Amino acid sequence: MSLLIKNGEIVTARERRFADIYCEGETITEIGENLDRSADEVIDASGKYVFPGFIDPHVHIYLPFMGTFSKDDYDSASRAALVGGTTTLIEMCCPSRSEEPRDAFKLWNSKAEGISACDYSFHMGVTGFDDSREEQLREIVEKEGITSFKVFLAYKGAFGIDDRELYQTLRLAKELGVVVTAHCENADLVAETQAKLVAEGKLGPEWHEPSRPVTVEAEGCSHLMAFAEMTGAEVYVVHTSCKPAVEAITSAKVRGVKATIETVIPYLILDSSYAERPDFEGAKFVMSPPIRSREHQDFLWKKLADGTIATVATDHAPFDFHTQKHMGHPDPEKAVDAKFNPLHRPADFTLIPNGIPSVEDRVNLLYTYGVTTGKIDLSTFVAVASTNAAKQFGLHPRKGDITIGGDADLVVYDPDYRGVISVDTQLMNTDYSGFEGVEIKGRPSATTIRGTVAARDGQFIGTPGLGKLLRRKTR
Ligand code: URP
Ligand code: ZN
Ligand code: ZN
Repeated sequence: MSLLIKNGEIVTARERRFADIYCEGETITEIGENLDRSADEVIDASGKYVFPGFIDPHVHIYLPFMGTFSKDDYDSASRAALVGGTTTLIEMCCPSRSEEPRDAFKLWNSKAEGISACDYSFHMGVTGFDDSREEQLREIVEKEGITSFKVFLAYKGAFGIDDRELYQTLRLAKELGVVVTAHCENADLVAETQAKLVAEGKLGPEWHEPSRPVTVEAEGCSHLMAFAEMTGAEVYVVHTSCKPAVEAITSAKVRGVKATIETVIPYLILDSSYAERPDFEGAKFVMSPPIRSREHQDFLWKKLADGTIATVATDHAPFDFHTQKHMGHPDPEKAVDAKFNPLHRPADFTLIPNGIPSVEDRVNLLYTYGVTTGKIDLSTFVAVASTNAAKQFGLHPRKGDITIGGDADLVVYDPDYRGVISVDTQLMNTDYSGFEGVEIKGRPSATTIRGTVAARDGQFIGTPGLGKLLRRKTR
């Protein structure tokens, strides 16, 4: 199978040039002007950009969480990803504290293997630490090529770990050359603040943000930085939402801590007023850390533009509004019974499953509200949505670039497309879109995964099961 992409403007994180791309089998074999080649498939990219396949380094597809399960599977999520230009997903493998790492890895991988239409890998969640877990983690890194861990400083009693476990995880990561990705919020501060607000009768989704204010997130970041400094481990802070959190990380970097900052698309597009929408609609926008005020959003855009923030992921975490989000409805008439509500107390915002679906929309939203507004340039766009994640997580130059010998994961992008995001047209498996009615300017007119066209103009035409588990390099 051969593929020729002609007449497009190639845009990578390092260069822009008009050239054709020829791919044989799964890889790019030639890049040059006016390539005179016949091919099984020819795509005319006149007037379009050609980007490297985009990488979403933070998604949840199979997620047992807050008494329920996320709504997508690898079939729906990989279709949505490819239509939106994302060719590689890195999912958080999130075992419960009682689950063995080896079993969890097998379970998560079984959800993707033979089903996913795009390539994938996992960050291995560490939700407890002892000798047996350590041995299993070593095996997962060495045998499976899973070269990043995930820890939660939040979600006490669920995925959250204590400081001894955090220290041991970072020590092991340093030894193995593994990056530790981390959700940074102080779990005790969250629990105490939630309890106080609920006792005061503040029960609606609008109280989610005040229950986890920026100070809670900044403390989580400083906490992680201290442990990274003590162990020398490399850390990657996921879903950074606000100025104090970014500043806690950048000041540690000045001290020599090896840390990278991720933000996620909801923080760049939505703001805290969305969770204040009446009639419980605010629940659609409940995620952690919470979506902040416009002041923080403006700051995040600036820090993306100047390179302080390295990646824009989604934190895709899909839950239905009418059933799952309603587990936290404070009106007993409207609340859906939450299985994990052991005391059967009246529902409140703390029972709303945290998360927003967005794997389909990240690239188009970042292009529309970043590039077309002039907040970030095209090369930064490619860097933060693809190349930097590939470099950070041991996939570059195979992924995240357009280079001879690299995987032929390519996005032919139409900057003239105009459309509106809607649940009615999305491929993600939720009953709502967090971006309903939001205008987009630009979308992929073709997405290829290892030389095969998988999406065309909003339609999935790929092959379920074609996606592979990617072996990644250590640092
Ligand atoms: O609210 C969020 N972020 N949900 C998904 C789980 C996590 O913390 O990443
Ligand atoms: Zn998280
Ligand atoms: Zn997440």
